[in-house]
Amino acid sequence: MQTVKAALVCGAGGFIGNHLVKRLKREGFWVRGVDLKFPEYADTEADDFVVGDLRDPSFVRDVIDRKFDETYQLAADMGGAGFIFSGENDAAIMHNSATINLNILDAAYKRNNKRIFYSSSACMYPAHNQDDPDNPNCREDSAYPAAPDSEYGWEKLFSERLYLSYARCRGMDVRVARYHNIFGPEGTWDGGREKAPAALCRKIALANNGDAIDVWGDGQQTRSFLYVDDCLEGTVRLTRSDFQGPVNIGSDEMVSINGLVDMIADIAGKTVKRNNVPGPLGVRGRNSHNALIQEKLGWAPSRPLLRGLEITYEWIERQVHSNVAMNLAE
Ligand code: NAD
Ligand code: GDD
Repeated sequence: MQTVKAALVCGAGGFIGNHLVKRLKREGFWVRGVDLKFPEYADTEADDFVVGDLRDPSFVRDVIDRKFDETYQLAADMGGAGFIFSGENDAAIMHNSATINLNILDAAYKRNNKRIFYSSSACMYPAHNQDDPDNPNCREDSAYPAAPDSEYGWEKLFSERLYLSYARCRGMDVRVARYHNIFGPEGTWDGGREKAPAALCRKIALANNGDAIDVWGDGQQTRSFLYVDDCLEGTVRLTRSDFQGPVNIGSDEMVSINGLVDMIADIAGKTVKRNNVPGPLGVRGRNSHNALIQEKLGWAPSRPLLRGLEITYEWIERQVHSNVAMNLAE
């Protein structure tokens, strides 16, 4: 008889975590999810969902009370440029995310749950390698000397090192990915933590044909955006591989923010003017470098940005309109 594999997803109430739970359930896993909150936009499919605070070490020991074949650590105090560059959240980001990582990794080690995935971020790369919007350098080996432009990036770098030290000194099978701006349906789309794809979909969904929307900066800053299904594919492939990382999980289809606005406006079938306004900007250019993931896993993300945006816009447009309808009814 085949035994059912078990997985733990920390941050299972969040965007990527809730999608990951669904994916693991489709694969036949028994899944425990943990988060401060249930998922906001869809029910969880976890067999067991525990609501609690992963900053509390005794709570963490309680949820890591059994053998898990795979542990995914996605919980963090996180958001887009508006959240990580506001300045007001720096202490919370550093304290909360570092404490979560310290607690989870140690409890997993003490329960001999060796295989653990950690979600780092492209925000850990040095700012000075991302000044040229046409030619940013995000190769994995460009990380040092370290100079991230946010405390969020510094915490990710610290935690990468924490996981790698548990691999070296305590025999943990850690896997570390550096995610590059992940987007898709059921992600945060308003409230201040939303990232550019969701924010711009929301603004365009609310705009009438011919309206102008606010776009932070001159819009010539570049990014790449990875659709969530590709993120999950990379995450599980890495976790089950022999390669520890750190490795980029991101798209290498770089686009300017103005270009992103134009793509979404086309999908919406609207003419939208851009009102380029001051705002939190982050690095000038960023793109995933995918040679290492291709070499080590024989796989790299491939879904065109346009396809992911079509699905995401449709979902956000529905959220916007149901919110407008609810507000009118009140
Ligand atoms: P998310 O904010 O949707 O999910 C994170 C979850 O962690 C949230 O549901 C939150 O409630 C939970 N959490 C925070 N503090 C907690 C605590 N003290 N106890 C329990 N749960 C807590 O973010 P996401 O987009 O799903 O990102 C998942 C991971 O990937 C994060 O570590 C993030 O930093 C990393 N990452 C994401 C992106 C991206 O573009 N989405 C890019 C780089 C890295
Ligand atoms: N959020 C947002 N909202 N960004 C906007 C907007 C807007 O209305 N208009 C323009 N932008 C610009 C930002 O100024 C920034 O230059 C760019 O779009 C991308 O912003 P975000 O998507 O918010 O964040 P990021 O790419 O700088 O960083 C994100 O990706 C990292 C991984 O690559 C964040 O989500 C980080 O938390 C994540 O780790």
